[in-house]
Formats: sequence, structure tokens, C-alpha cells
Amino acid sequence: MKIRFGVIGADPRRRSNFIFHNFSRERAELVAVCDRDAEQFPRLKETYPEFENVKTYTDYRDLVKDPDIEAVFVVVRDDFHEEMAVAALEAGKAVYLEKPMAISIEGCDNILKAAMRSGSKLMVGHNMRYMNFVLKMKEIIDSGVIGEIQSVWVRHFVNYGSCYFRHWCAERKNSNGLLLQKGAHDIDIIHWLAGGYTQRAVAMGKLSVYNRTEKHLAPGEKPDRFVSFTPECWPPLELTGLNGQMDIEDHSMLLMQLDNGVQASYEHCMYAPDSERNYTFIGTKGRLENIGDNSPGTEIHVWTNRGSRRQPDIVYKVSQGTGSHGGSDPLILEGFFDFLEKDLPPHVSPIAARNAVAAGVMGHVSMRSGSMPCDIPALDEELIRYFENGQKKA
Ligand SMILES: NC(=O)c1ccc[n+]([C@@H]2O[C@H](COP(=O)([O-])OP(=O)(O)OC[C@H]3O[C@@H](n4cnc5c(N)ncnc54)[C@H](O)[C@@H]3O)[C@@H](O)[C@H]2O)c1
Repeated sequence: MKIRFGVIGADPRRRSNFIFHNFSRERAELVAVCDRDAEQFPRLKETYPEFENVKTYTDYRDLVKDPDIEAVFVVVRDDFHEEMAVAALEAGKAVYLEKPMAISIEGCDNILKAAMRSGSKLMVGHNMRYMNFVLKMKEIIDSGVIGEIQSVWVRHFVNYGSCYFRHWCAERKNSNGLLLQKGAHDIDIIHWLAGGYTQRAVAMGKLSVYNRTEKHLAPGEKPDRFVSFTPECWPPLELTGLNGQMDIEDHSMLLMQLDNGVQASYEHCMYAPDSERNYTFIGTKGRLENIGDNSPGTEIHVWTNRGSRRQPDIVYKVSQGTGSHGGSDPLILEGFFDFLEKDLPPHVSPIAARNAVAAGVMGHVSMRSGSMPCDIPALDEELIRYFENGQKKA
């Protein structure tokens, strides 16, 4: 029997395309899609003629009620995650929810509670956990070669960052800010590889470049987000067509105290000329750093002897993944289906997804209140036990 699923967010040019493009036609069947913009349906069916008979809904509540569907993918903007995920879980559907889990800590906790209450399976789309360079760094750290991790530094340069200042994400009310939309990925990897969750966050961040651009979108005008991915999209101060309502930061610097004693920092910049994630883990016996992330020729350099930065002691080659986001997208999709069919635990737990959002939320609170240190509210023990027990009551 194939897994019968529906997708909320049907634009084949946006994120949900990773599902339409990659899902195994032998293993699963797309039964219905929902989009509040009905223009997406002919576009989807033109791109994928095989979806000609797929049902279409413009209200997500109709899709989650559809008895022909057992699993729902929520792939729309972040401010709708909470209400859609809760509705789908309570309707008895398994849910694949895009990251960030929600735009508030309470929102994440409401989703976790709905999953526990209903017993419906929940997975959050942290596809970085399926990227080869991340898996290689984890393997190296777990081997003990750099000792016990004590500090972590992560920098993310983003040369397509103007896209977040064109569409819905530019407004705090829709996204909270980029420590969630972008940062939730990296904070989650820091937590996973360092083996702890953020307890306290301190941050600085500023909107200092894109707010100085001119010729913003007129009210109601649709943004062209794809232009941000072209080489012509430069220099930042000369860009046009941005969302004039922007109030999120275009660079951020977050310090994290983890509950196992590790200290970490995460910085991102949305107006950089280049793009790369650069991680450094420093332990009691050495240090590692990725040179490249998903690009061909990516390596992990490891220093275990005292010496020059230019001469690592060990170089690990990272194999090239196949498919979008360094090959992680097809893998995470299979991970979700394996979770549904075989009860195999995915690489990421909803608790980790919640804790990544929590660090980002508190980072934003901190940077917007004079860098005040902010503690992460503890999660209910019963919820932790439920998810640690593979989403089953003990
Ligand atoms: N994991 C990743 O690598 C990755 C990459 C990109 C985006 N994302 C995530 O994917 C999600 C979707 O991003 P996007 O930029 O494609 O979102 P988007 O909301 O801009 O577009 C997706 C589609 O959803 C539709 N939509 C929006 N609100 C709706 C509603 N209330 N009801 C029905 N349809 C609605 C839109 O009309 C659009 O066709 C976001 O949560 C984002 O964080 C994840």
C-alpha cells in the first residue's frame, strides 16, 4: 500500500517542489494539494502532468479533513506552521512540517502537545541533518579525534539574502526574524554536534543595509524573489523591489550557553558577496573546520597538533550528494516515509526542532532589548519523555 499524502503550499517553483520532484512514486502517492492561490494548481499540473487528477483545495482545513490522506506536508510561510500542524495532527494525520517549527516557543510547544495528545507522528524538516558535510563533521566529532567539544563558532555568509527582504519573511510578525528562518538550521546542527541544547542566549543584530535601499514594492505588488539568486543582484545598497515594511535584522550575532557547558556562537550576514556556511568545533584535543559546504571538493580539515592554520593534520573529503540542498532533500523525504512505514527514527526529533527555535527566539529578544541575557523556558518533562520514547507513551 502506498503512503497517501497531501501538501499544503503548491507552488512548484518554491520549497514544496522538493517533495513533488523527489518522492518515490512506488512508495507514495500525492492525493491532494492546497494553496490559497489557485493559480498554483495549473502551474503544478503543467510541471507534473502525472498530477492531473490530484485534488485541489484552497483552504487547508479541507485538506486536513480529507479521509483519503494519511500524511500532510506543511510547506508554507512560517507564521502558519502552528495552526496548520496542530489542525493536521488533531485530524489524525502524520505531519512533515518545514523548519522553523513555528515562530514562537509557545507555538512549538502547542505543536508538540497536539502531537502527544493525538498520537499522530510529527517530523520537522531540518534537512541539514542529512547533508554530507554535516554527517562527516558528526562522524569526526563522535570518533573522539578532537576530544571533548568545548566551543563552537559558526559563520554563515549569504549572498542571496536579499530574497528574505523581498517577501513575507521581512516582517517580524510573519517570521520573527532570521535567527529562525535561517538560523534554526545552524543552531540545530550546533546542538546536535555539540551534544546539548541552548540554555541562555545573548545577541546583537541590526538592520543596517537593506533599509537604506530605494524603490520598494508598491502595496500589493508581488516580489520577484528569484532575482536575489542571480549575479546581477549586487551591490546591496542599489537593490530595488524590496519589501518596504521590513523590520528584521540583516546581520545577527548570537552567543549560546549550552546545557552541557559548551559555549557557541553563530553569525549570519544577509548582504555578503559570497555564500557559505563555515563551522568550527574546538575540543580538548583539536579543532575541525569545514572548507566548503555542499559545493564540489568540500573538505573537513582537522588540526590535532600545534602548528600552522594552513596545514591541517587530517583532511577528510566530503562526497557530493545528489539532489537539492546537497542531496539532503531526497534523503529527508525518504526519512519521513521510513518513519511512517517502518517506525525508523528520523535524524531530527521535534524536541530538537523546538529547541533550535527557542534559541533563535531568545536571541531575537536579547538583540532587541540591549543584548540582555535570555534564558530558554524549560520544556514539559512529559513531552520530553514522549518524544524521547519515539513518540510513544511510556
Ligand atoms: N528546509 C529548507 O531547506 C527550506 C528551504 C526553503 C524554504 N523552507 C521553508 O519552507 C516553507 C515554505 O517556504 P516558501 O518560501 O515556499 O513559502 P511561501 O508561503 O512563500 O510559498 C509557498 C506556497 O504556499 C502558499 N501559501 C502561503 N500561505 C498559505 C495559506 N495560509 N494557505 C494555503 N497556501 C498558502 C503560497 O501561495 C505559495 O504558493 C517555509 O516555512 C520555509 O521556512 C525550507
